[in-house]
Amino acid sequence: GKKKIIITIDGWSSCGKSTVAKQLARELNYVYIDSGAMYRAITLYFLRNHIDWTNTEEVKGALKNIQLDFRYNEHSQQSEIFLNDENVEYVIRDLVVAEKVSEIAAIREVREFAVKQQQSMGKKKGIVMDGRDIGTVVFPNAELKIFMTADNAVRVERRFKELYEKNPNVTIEEVKNNLEMRDYIDSNREVSPLRQAADALVLDNSKLTMPEQLTIALNWVKERLPA
Ligand code: CDP
Ligand code: CDP
Repeated sequence: GKKKIIITIDGWSSCGKSTVAKQLARELNYVYIDSGAMYRAITLYFLRNHIDWTNTEEVKGALKNIQLDFRYNEHSQQSEIFLNDENVEYVIRDLVVAEKVSEIAAIREVREFAVKQQQSMGKKKGIVMDGRDIGTVVFPNAELKIFMTADNAVRVERRFKELYEKNPNVTIEEVKNNLEMRDYIDSNREVSPLRQAADALVLDNSKLTMPEQLTIALNWVKERLPA
């Protein structure tokens, strides 16, 4: 069979990473892993269980009680995240989780916990993973690294539309503030900050349609697939 590669997609909040990652996984018949979902699920657990995440011992204890796994849903044709056997794929998208996730994702022990699992998921290659540190820390030797950007206003508008469909009380201001705050924390934290890997290819999709962005990304894949 054809050789499989590892594809990493990093970038700013809500710039279309998971959309491209899912498109590529479907086209190539690869596994798609949303690393952000892991940080969101951990955040959900911390919030529900009133974990004091400024206390390292409490964080370590809490992580021992967290089991994350991705299960493929035939119906939605997507892999969904489970937190201790509960499907949390939808609740973790809530703004309540988004308000705290960057703070929790900056904790060293939390990152070690997540990165270890992410690396083991890539052992057989044939994987597309999106996040913030996938090309720099999780898979520094990935064959294809994409770094995504889009204009701030475009990103806010896109994420607002998604959240508004679920909750019409959400305001564009809230969404804008949340994206700005997360981008700031994610790119300024001490452990694995959001950075463009030196060998990453930049994809700005501010003005691209879904089919256009897929065409670009697929061409990059073709250039990198072993003969
Ligand atoms: O999809 P969206 O851009 O809103 O974010 P996400 O991918 O769901 O990630 C949520 C948060 O998790 C990010 O803002 C980061 O704080 C954190 N994250 C991270 O630190 N490292 C990753 N590899 C993925 C996400
Ligand atoms: O994963 P990330 O947070 O970077 O972004 P996403 O969830 O893939 O995309 C955020 C929103 O932008 C989704 O509602 C996508 O449907 C939309 N999008 C778009 O309108 N046009 C694109 N070229 C890419 C994404």
